[in-house]
Amino acid sequence: MLISFIGFMGSGKSTLTRRISRTALLPELDLDQLISERAGRSIADIFVAEGEAGFRRRETETLRDLEVEETTLLACGGGLVETPECRRLLRERGVVIWLDAPWSDLWDRLLLDDTDRPLLREMDRTGFAERYRQRRPFYAATADFRLRVDRSGVENLARQAMACSLFWSRNTESAS
Ligand code: S3P
Repeated sequence: MLISFIGFMGSGKSTLTRRISRTALLPELDLDQLISERAGRSIADIFVAEGEAGFRRRETETLRDLEVEETTLLACGGGLVETPECRRLLRERGVVIWLDAPWSDLWDRLLLDDTDRPLLREMDRTGFAERYRQRRPFYAATADFRLRVDRSGVENLARQAMACSLFWSRNTESAS
């Protein structure tokens, strides 16, 4: 089963999965990393060579082929929810948790982050806010739970995420 984390870029998906993984001793995967390993090139190079459409194709294929033997934490790229098959796959394969933060906090945070995000290179503040607005309905439609990312820190989010997963597992078991 997957415990998947979705949310706009900069919402802290990778940091949170790493934190939960250390505490709960669950394996963690980063979908962007898997895509990059499989392609033999960086995410930025995939965007340059194949455009966003090529990246989305690879993203979908990587998720489709992902096999896990035990409960695994999965950090997803911020745009994965734009692809209907990805939304369906995440929901079929476990619980989905949305890290939700105001777009202006994310914009400020990303200005200080040196991760290479190809889409961000092409966006100004208005474009960023627009893309965020377009994606929100997809996050809402995919997630079982929404966690507000505020300034209370990663520990607090990790506790909430574990509580959500536990609640989801109990409910799913009792329903089946
Ligand atoms: C993307 C977000 C990135 C990465 C790719 C595209 C997006 O992941 O998948 O650059 O479309 O928002 P993060 O959300 O981890 O930055």
